[in-house]
Amino acid sequence: MSLTHRPRRLRRNPAIRRLVKETHLTVDDLIYPMFVMEGENTRVEVPSMPGAYRFTLDLLLKEIAEVYDLGINAIALFPAVPDEKKDVTGSESYNPDGLIQRSVRAIKQAVPDILVITDVALDPFTTHGHDGILDENGIILNDPTVEVLVKMSLSQALAGADMVAPSDMMDGRIGAIRQALDEHGYEHVSILAYSAKYASAYYGPFRDALGSAPKSGDKKTYQMDPANTREALKEVYLDIAEGADIVMVKPALAYLDIIAKVKEATDLPVAAYNVSGEYSMIKAAAQLGWIDEKKVMLETLTSMKRAGADIILTYFAKEVAQILGVHPRY
Ligand code: PBG
Repeated sequence: MSLTHRPRRLRRNPAIRRLVKETHLTVDDLIYPMFVMEGENTRVEVPSMPGAYRFTLDLLLKEIAEVYDLGINAIALFPAVPDEKKDVTGSESYNPDGLIQRSVRAIKQAVPDILVITDVALDPFTTHGHDGILDENGIILNDPTVEVLVKMSLSQALAGADMVAPSDMMDGRIGAIRQALDEHGYEHVSILAYSAKYASAYYGPFRDALGSAPKSGDKKTYQMDPANTREALKEVYLDIAEGADIVMVKPALAYLDIIAKVKEATDLPVAAYNVSGEYSMIKAAAQLGWIDEKKVMLETLTSMKRAGADIILTYFAKEVAQILGVHPRY
Protein backbone atom coordinates (compact mmCIF):
# COMPACT_ATOMS: atom_id res chain seq x y z
CA MET A 1 0.00 0.00 0.00
CA SER A 2 1.15 3.51 -0.55
CA LEU A 3 0.10 5.16 2.69
CA THR A 4 0.91 8.75 3.59
CA HIS A 5 0.24 8.11 7.26
CA ARG A 6 1.40 5.05 9.10
CA PRO A 7 0.61 5.71 12.78
CA ARG A 8 2.46 2.54 13.73
CA ARG A 9 5.77 4.33 12.95
CA LEU A 10 5.44 6.11 16.30
CA ARG A 11 4.84 2.83 18.12
CA ARG A 12 7.86 0.96 16.77
CA ASN A 13 9.97 0.78 19.89
CA PRO A 14 9.93 1.83 23.55
CA ALA A 15 12.06 4.93 22.97
CA ILE A 16 9.74 6.40 20.37
CA ARG A 17 6.69 5.46 22.43
CA ARG A 18 8.14 7.33 25.38
CA LEU A 19 8.69 10.42 23.22
CA VAL A 20 5.10 10.56 22.08
CA LYS A 21 3.49 9.54 25.37
CA GLU A 22 0.74 12.04 26.14
CA THR A 23 0.04 11.22 29.77
CA HIS A 24 2.56 10.70 32.53
CA LEU A 25 1.79 9.18 35.88
CA THR A 26 4.18 10.49 38.51
CA VAL A 27 4.47 10.08 42.24
CA ASP A 28 3.92 13.83 42.51
CA ASP A 29 0.29 13.28 41.47
CA LEU A 30 -0.54 10.91 44.27
CA ILE A 31 -2.20 11.27 47.63
CA TYR A 32 -1.97 8.21 49.87
CA PRO A 33 -5.08 7.56 51.99
CA MET A 34 -4.09 6.04 55.35
CA PHE A 35 -6.05 4.62 58.29
CA VAL A 36 -5.13 5.34 61.90
CA MET A 37 -6.44 3.57 65.00
CA GLU A 38 -5.97 3.77 68.78
CA GLY A 39 -3.36 1.66 70.56
CA GLU A 40 0.30 1.04 70.07
CA ASN A 41 2.71 -1.06 68.08
CA THR A 42 -0.02 -2.64 65.96
CA ARG A 43 -0.99 -2.74 62.36
CA VAL A 44 -3.98 -4.68 61.08
CA GLU A 45 -4.48 -5.49 57.44
CA VAL A 46 -7.96 -4.57 56.22
CA PRO A 47 -9.42 -7.97 55.21
CA SER A 48 -11.16 -6.62 52.12
CA MET A 49 -8.17 -4.45 51.13
CA PRO A 50 -5.03 -6.60 50.97
CA GLY A 51 -1.95 -4.43 51.39
CA ALA A 52 -3.85 -1.64 53.19
CA TYR A 53 -3.50 -1.37 56.96
CA ARG A 54 -4.90 0.36 59.96
CA PHE A 55 -1.90 1.60 61.94
CA THR A 56 -1.57 2.72 65.50
CA LEU A 57 -0.04 6.18 65.57
CA ASP A 58 3.48 5.05 66.51
CA LEU A 59 3.69 2.70 63.53
CA LEU A 60 1.88 5.16 61.28
CA LEU A 61 4.65 7.70 61.88
CA LYS A 62 7.25 5.16 60.72
CA GLU A 63 5.18 4.29 57.68
CA ILE A 64 4.74 7.95 56.78
CA ALA A 65 8.48 8.59 57.04
CA GLU A 66 8.96 5.66 54.66
CA VAL A 67 6.36 6.80 52.14
CA TYR A 68 7.76 10.34 52.18
CA ASP A 69 11.18 8.90 51.39
CA LEU A 70 9.59 7.03 48.49
CA GLY A 71 8.56 10.38 47.03
CA ILE A 72 4.94 10.61 48.15
CA ASN A 73 4.12 14.21 49.07
CA ALA A 74 0.68 13.93 50.61
CA ILE A 75 -1.44 11.67 52.76
CA ALA A 76 -5.16 11.70 53.49
CA LEU A 77 -5.88 10.55 57.01
CA PHE A 78 -8.94 8.58 58.14
CA PRO A 79 -9.65 7.48 61.73
CA ALA A 80 -11.02 4.17 63.00
CA VAL A 81 -12.93 5.47 66.00
CA PRO A 82 -13.70 3.10 68.90
CA ASP A 83 -17.46 2.53 69.37
CA GLU A 84 -17.44 4.01 72.88
CA LYS A 85 -16.32 7.37 71.43
CA LYS A 86 -19.17 7.53 68.93
CA ASP A 87 -22.43 9.38 69.56
CA VAL A 88 -25.42 10.58 67.54
CA THR A 89 -23.87 13.95 66.66
CA GLY A 90 -20.27 12.80 66.11
CA SER A 91 -18.95 15.16 68.79
CA GLU A 92 -15.65 13.27 69.04
CA SER A 93 -14.86 14.67 65.59
CA TYR A 94 -13.88 18.04 67.07
CA ASN A 95 -12.22 16.81 70.26
CA PRO A 96 -8.92 18.72 70.32
CA ASP A 97 -7.32 15.56 71.69
CA GLY A 98 -9.12 13.16 69.39
CA LEU A 99 -7.29 10.50 67.41
CA ILE A 100 -7.09 12.61 64.26
CA GLN A 101 -5.98 15.76 66.03
CA ARG A 102 -3.26 13.88 67.98
CA SER A 103 -2.18 12.13 64.81
CA VAL A 104 -1.89 15.33 62.79
CA ARG A 105 0.22 16.97 65.51
CA ALA A 106 2.54 13.97 65.69
CA ILE A 107 2.87 13.64 61.91
CA LYS A 108 3.67 17.31 61.41
CA GLN A 109 6.33 16.96 64.09
CA ALA A 110 7.83 13.73 62.73
CA VAL A 111 7.60 14.38 58.97
CA PRO A 112 6.97 18.13 58.68
CA ASP A 113 7.23 18.30 54.90
CA ILE A 114 4.53 15.79 54.08
CA LEU A 115 1.18 17.37 53.31
CA VAL A 116 -1.46 16.22 55.77
CA ILE A 117 -5.03 16.18 54.50
CA THR A 118 -7.82 15.49 56.96
CA ASP A 119 -11.25 14.12 56.16
CA VAL A 120 -14.18 16.26 57.18
CA ALA A 121 -17.26 14.05 57.61
CA LEU A 122 -19.09 12.63 60.57
CA ASP A 123 -19.52 8.99 59.56
CA PRO A 124 -16.52 7.53 61.45
CA PHE A 125 -17.77 9.32 64.58
CA THR A 126 -21.53 8.67 64.60
CA THR A 127 -23.20 5.66 66.17
CA HIS A 128 -25.54 5.44 63.15
CA GLY A 129 -22.73 5.74 60.59
CA HIS A 130 -24.23 8.62 58.64
CA ASP A 131 -22.28 11.72 57.59
CA GLY A 132 -24.79 14.00 59.24
CA ILE A 133 -27.00 14.65 62.22
CA LEU A 134 -30.39 12.88 62.05
CA ASP A 135 -33.77 14.12 63.17
CA GLU A 136 -36.23 11.81 64.96
CA ASN A 137 -37.36 10.41 61.60
CA GLY A 138 -33.84 9.62 60.45
CA ILE A 139 -33.70 12.60 58.05
CA ILE A 140 -30.20 14.10 57.69
CA LEU A 141 -30.26 17.70 58.88
CA ASN A 142 -28.07 19.80 56.61
CA ASP A 143 -27.42 23.04 58.48
CA PRO A 144 -26.82 21.61 61.98
CA THR A 145 -24.44 19.12 60.36
CA VAL A 146 -22.49 21.94 58.70
CA GLU A 147 -22.04 23.54 62.14
CA VAL A 148 -20.32 20.38 63.36
CA LEU A 149 -18.24 20.13 60.19
CA VAL A 150 -17.02 23.67 60.79
CA LYS A 151 -15.93 22.79 64.35
CA MET A 152 -14.24 19.67 63.04
CA SER A 153 -12.34 21.61 60.36
CA LEU A 154 -11.19 24.21 62.87
CA SER A 155 -9.92 21.55 65.26
CA GLN A 156 -8.01 19.90 62.41
CA ALA A 157 -6.52 23.23 61.34
CA LEU A 158 -5.52 23.93 64.95
CA ALA A 159 -3.80 20.53 65.07
CA GLY A 160 -1.79 21.51 61.99
CA ALA A 161 -3.66 20.03 59.02
CA ASP A 162 -2.43 21.53 55.75
CA MET A 163 -5.64 20.83 53.89
CA VAL A 164 -9.15 19.83 54.95
CA ALA A 165 -11.23 17.61 52.73
CA PRO A 166 -14.99 17.70 53.29
CA SER A 167 -16.36 14.37 52.04
CA ASP A 168 -19.84 14.66 53.52
CA MET A 169 -21.83 16.24 50.64
CA MET A 170 -23.87 18.63 52.81
CA ASP A 171 -24.97 21.80 51.03
CA GLY A 172 -22.99 24.96 51.78
CA ARG A 173 -20.23 23.32 53.77
CA ILE A 174 -17.36 24.58 51.65
CA GLY A 175 -18.38 28.22 52.12
CA ALA A 176 -19.02 27.79 55.83
CA ILE A 177 -15.68 26.06 56.39
CA ARG A 178 -13.76 28.61 54.30
CA GLN A 179 -15.28 31.48 56.22
CA ALA A 180 -14.57 29.91 59.62
CA LEU A 181 -10.99 29.03 58.69
CA ASP A 182 -10.37 32.59 57.52
CA GLU A 183 -11.94 34.13 60.61
CA HIS A 184 -9.69 32.05 62.85
CA GLY A 185 -6.43 32.85 61.08
CA TYR A 186 -6.25 29.68 58.99
CA GLU A 187 -6.46 31.39 55.61
CA HIS A 188 -3.43 29.29 54.57
CA VAL A 189 -5.29 26.00 55.10
CA SER A 190 -6.63 24.81 51.76
CA ILE A 191 -9.84 22.95 50.95
CA LEU A 192 -9.97 19.80 48.85
CA ALA A 193 -13.69 19.54 48.12
CA TYR A 194 -15.28 16.18 47.47
CA SER A 195 -17.51 18.01 45.02
CA ALA A 196 -18.98 15.25 42.87
CA LYS A 197 -19.20 12.40 45.32
CA TYR A 198 -21.56 9.65 44.27
CA ALA A 199 -23.64 7.28 46.40
CA SER A 200 -21.45 4.38 45.35
CA ALA A 201 -21.28 0.72 46.23
CA TYR A 202 -17.52 0.97 45.62
CA TYR A 203 -16.99 2.34 49.15
CA GLY A 204 -17.71 -1.03 50.80
CA PRO A 205 -14.15 -2.02 51.74
CA PHE A 206 -13.41 1.45 53.16
CA ARG A 207 -16.41 1.13 55.47
CA ASP A 208 -15.00 -2.25 56.57
CA ALA A 209 -11.68 -0.58 57.28
CA LEU A 210 -13.23 2.02 59.57
CA GLY A 211 -16.33 0.18 60.80
CA SER A 212 -18.28 3.15 59.44
CA ALA A 213 -21.04 1.54 57.36
CA PRO A 214 -24.46 3.16 57.96
CA LYS A 215 -26.48 1.09 60.44
CA SER A 216 -29.67 1.80 58.52
CA GLY A 217 -30.66 3.38 55.25
CA ASP A 218 -28.25 4.62 52.63
CA LYS A 219 -26.49 7.87 51.74
CA LYS A 220 -28.61 8.74 48.73
CA THR A 221 -30.09 11.93 50.17
CA TYR A 222 -26.64 13.51 50.29
CA GLN A 223 -24.31 11.61 47.96
CA MET A 224 -25.13 11.86 44.25
CA ASP A 225 -27.00 9.52 41.94
CA PRO A 226 -24.51 7.63 39.71
CA ALA A 227 -26.86 8.34 36.80
CA ASN A 228 -26.19 12.10 36.87
CA THR A 229 -23.68 14.28 35.05
CA ARG A 230 -25.11 17.81 35.09
CA GLU A 231 -25.61 17.57 38.84
CA ALA A 232 -21.87 16.92 39.20
CA LEU A 233 -21.11 20.16 37.38
CA LYS A 234 -23.60 22.03 39.56
CA GLU A 235 -21.86 20.74 42.69
CA VAL A 236 -18.44 21.62 41.26
CA TYR A 237 -19.50 25.19 40.36
CA LEU A 238 -21.00 25.70 43.81
CA ASP A 239 -17.88 24.45 45.57
CA ILE A 240 -15.69 26.71 43.43
CA ALA A 241 -17.92 29.69 44.19
CA GLU A 242 -17.77 28.82 47.90
CA GLY A 243 -13.97 28.74 47.93
CA ALA A 244 -12.73 25.23 47.10
CA ASP A 245 -9.05 25.09 46.13
CA ILE A 246 -9.24 21.66 44.51
CA VAL A 247 -12.36 19.84 43.32
CA MET A 248 -12.71 16.09 43.39
CA VAL A 249 -14.66 13.40 41.61
CA LYS A 250 -15.30 10.20 43.53
CA PRO A 251 -15.25 7.30 42.69
CA ALA A 252 -12.89 7.51 39.72
CA LEU A 253 -12.87 4.41 37.54
CA ALA A 254 -16.55 4.24 36.66
CA TYR A 255 -16.67 8.05 36.46
CA LEU A 256 -13.93 8.92 33.97
CA ASP A 257 -16.50 10.81 31.88
CA ILE A 258 -17.28 12.98 34.91
CA ILE A 259 -13.58 13.65 35.50
CA ALA A 260 -13.24 14.76 31.87
CA LYS A 261 -16.24 17.08 32.09
CA VAL A 262 -15.12 18.60 35.38
CA LYS A 263 -11.67 19.16 33.90
CA GLU A 264 -13.25 21.10 31.03
CA ALA A 265 -15.43 23.07 33.42
CA THR A 266 -12.69 24.50 35.64
CA ASP A 267 -9.08 25.64 35.74
CA LEU A 268 -8.75 24.49 39.34
CA PRO A 269 -6.79 21.30 39.95
CA VAL A 270 -9.04 18.26 39.61
CA ALA A 271 -8.61 15.29 41.92
CA ALA A 272 -10.01 11.79 41.47
CA TYR A 273 -10.46 9.22 44.24
CA ASN A 274 -9.52 5.72 43.17
CA VAL A 275 -11.70 4.31 45.94
CA SER A 276 -11.46 1.20 48.06
CA GLY A 277 -13.70 -1.00 45.89
CA GLU A 278 -11.68 -0.14 42.79
CA TYR A 279 -8.52 -1.12 44.66
CA SER A 280 -9.98 -4.33 46.02
CA MET A 281 -11.30 -5.47 42.62
CA ILE A 282 -7.80 -5.32 41.18
CA LYS A 283 -6.28 -6.99 44.24
CA ALA A 284 -8.85 -9.79 44.21
CA ALA A 285 -8.55 -10.54 40.50
CA ALA A 286 -4.75 -10.48 40.81
CA GLN A 287 -4.84 -12.87 43.79
CA LEU A 288 -6.88 -15.27 41.67
CA GLY A 289 -4.23 -14.99 38.97
CA TRP A 290 -6.75 -13.54 36.53
CA ILE A 291 -5.03 -10.24 35.81
CA ASP A 292 -1.53 -8.78 36.04
CA GLU A 293 -1.84 -6.52 39.08
CA LYS A 294 1.00 -4.16 38.30
CA LYS A 295 -0.03 -3.58 34.70
CA VAL A 296 -3.73 -3.18 35.46
CA MET A 297 -2.94 -0.79 38.30
CA LEU A 298 -0.73 1.44 36.17
CA GLU A 299 -3.18 1.36 33.26
CA THR A 300 -6.05 2.30 35.55
CA LEU A 301 -4.26 5.21 37.19
CA THR A 302 -2.89 6.47 33.86
CA SER A 303 -6.42 6.43 32.47
CA MET A 304 -7.61 8.61 35.34
CA LYS A 305 -4.91 11.12 34.47
CA ARG A 306 -5.76 10.90 30.78
CA ALA A 307 -9.38 11.65 31.63
CA GLY A 308 -8.24 14.86 33.30
CA ALA A 309 -7.28 14.14 36.88
CA ASP A 310 -4.32 16.21 38.06
CA ILE A 311 -4.27 14.42 41.40
CA ILE A 312 -5.22 10.86 42.34
CA LEU A 313 -6.01 9.56 45.80
CA THR A 314 -5.08 5.92 45.72
CA TYR A 315 -4.31 3.04 48.06
CA PHE A 316 -1.82 1.97 45.38
CA ALA A 317 0.33 5.06 46.01
CA LYS A 318 3.10 3.21 47.82
CA GLU A 319 3.24 0.45 45.21
CA VAL A 320 3.33 3.02 42.41
CA ALA A 321 6.14 4.88 44.15
CA GLN A 322 8.08 1.64 44.51
CA ILE A 323 7.65 0.91 40.79
CA LEU A 324 8.41 4.40 39.49
CA GLY A 325 11.39 4.75 41.80
CA VAL A 326 12.43 7.66 43.96
CA HIS A 327 12.83 10.80 41.92
CA PRO A 328 14.61 13.88 43.19
CA ARG A 329 12.50 16.62 44.72
CA TYR A 330 13.99 19.52 42.81
C1 PBG B 1 -16.58 9.28 54.45
C2 PBG B 1 -15.78 8.75 53.33
C3 PBG B 1 -16.03 7.58 52.59
C4 PBG B 1 -14.95 7.41 51.74
C5 PBG B 1 -14.08 8.49 51.96
N1 PBG B 1 -14.63 9.32 52.94
C6 PBG B 1 -17.11 6.58 52.69
C7 PBG B 1 -18.49 6.99 52.49
O1 PBG B 1 -18.80 8.09 52.03
O2 PBG B 1 -19.34 6.17 52.84
C8 PBG B 1 -14.76 6.26 50.81
C9 PBG B 1 -13.36 6.02 50.34
C10 PBG B 1 -13.13 4.70 49.70
O3 PBG B 1 -14.05 3.90 49.45
O4 PBG B 1 -11.95 4.44 49.43
N2 PBG B 1 -17.43 10.33 54.24
